[in-house]
Formats: sequence, structure tokens, C-alpha cells
Amino acid sequence: MTAIRLLRHAPGAPGLRWFGLGPGLRPSRGLLKLQRLLDKHAFWACGRSRTDLRRLLAGSEAVVSLWRGKRLVGFGRATSDGLCRAVLWDVVVAGDLQGRGLGRQVVEALLAAPMVRGVERVYLMTTNSAGFYRQLGFNDATPQVLLVRQAERPSASPSPGPEGRSSSPGCS
Ligand SMILES: CC(C)(COP(=O)(O)OP(=O)(O)OC[C@H]1O[C@@H](n2cnc3c(N)ncnc32)[C@H](O)[C@@H]1OP(=O)(O)O)[C@@H](O)C(=O)NCCC(=O)NCCS
Repeated sequence: MTAIRLLRHAPGAPGLRWFGLGPGLRPSRGLLKLQRLLDKHAFWACGRSRTDLRRLLAGSEAVVSLWRGKRLVGFGRATSDGLCRAVLWDVVVAGDLQGRGLGRQVVEALLAAPMVRGVERVYLMTTNSAGFYRQLGFNDATPQVLLVRQAERPSASPSPGPEGRSSSPGCS
């Protein structure tokens, strides 16, 4: 099996964001591949445009990607104030490679990132994967309550086009 390589991107992931760089800093169409990975395996992040993804990456203090050759097979990112609070977002592993310890590698790399390690509390929200995070030292937040305020209009870029929203049939 081709070796899997974990990339720890610089804050804001400028190489991935602007040039789609992958392993060895080679142009790898990384942003397009990230869009496809999320469309296929992350129901909450399905349909994000590449413009949206660039903005999300720019605002992330820690970004990790997993590559098997030229294929992007895993991803995760974190936002953080560097001291008190950090939040993990968009942790995902390609379906055919789940259950082999790759998700753990992504989370551990995010937790070890300079802007996340040592932070007082690291939060995350999950619908189906609480058991995965409990194995990694996360606990239920009781008695805290998650509150949500939904934007009246999505703030994500609205216009379709070459950079626009994905029309991937994988979105569900
Ligand atoms: C959740 C996800 C990232 C886990 O990645 P993975 O590579 O399959 O997980 P790992 O193989 O590293 O699993 C680590 C441990 O967690 C366990 N685990 C994995 N997913 C789990 C789940 N949903 N519930 C409970 N335990 C889980 C594994 O059994 C493994 O335990 P072990 O070390 O005793 O064998 C991956 O399944 C995924 O991408 N799912 C779809 C997207 C998603 O739901 N992401 C989470 C968003 S918050």
C-alpha cells in the first residue's frame, strides 16, 4: 500500500489555499481535492465552493492534510486564540481508509499544533462521531449547552461558476 503522508500546513495554509500545494510543496490541485473530499465524506461541509474553502483555510490557525500519493485522503483544521479556547473543524478521512488510525493522526496533529497545544480548552461539535473523540480524551461538555444562531442568509459566497458551489453528485 502506498505510504500515507501527513502534512502540517502553516497557519492559514497559504500554499494549499492559493496554489493547491500537496506533498513536497508540489502543485497538486489540493483545493479541488479538498472540495471533493468534503463533498463526499463530510455531510456538514458539502457544497462549499473553493472561494469558501479559501476563506476557511485563511481563518484557521492549524491545518492538517493526509495524502496517499497524489490523492488527498484526510483533512482537519482548527481555529484558536492560542491561549484559552480552540475549536476543531472539518475532521474527515476518506471512506475506504477509515478505521486505520488516520483520523486519530489528524486530531493528534491538530492538538499538537503550536496554536492549539497548551490551550486551556479545545472544543468540537460532532453529530455521529462522539465515540471517536472520547477515545482521544474529549469528554461530554455537560452541563454546558450548545446554542446556535443561524444566519438569515448563508454568509458563504453565493455565486456559482468555475469557483462556485460544487454540483458534485456526492453531496447528500
Ligand atoms: C470520524 C473519522 C474522522 C474517524 O477517522 P478514522 O480514521 O476512521 O478513525 P481511526 O481509525 O483513527 O479511529 C480511532 C479510534 O476511534 C474509533 N472510532 C472511529 N470512528 C468512531 C465512531 N464514529 N464512533 C466511535 N468510535 C469510533 C476507532 O474504532 C478507533 O478505535 P481503536 O483505536 O480502539 O481501534 C472518520 O470516520 C470520518 O471521516 N467520518 C466521516 C466524517 C465525520 O463524521 N467526521 C467527524 C466530524 S466531527
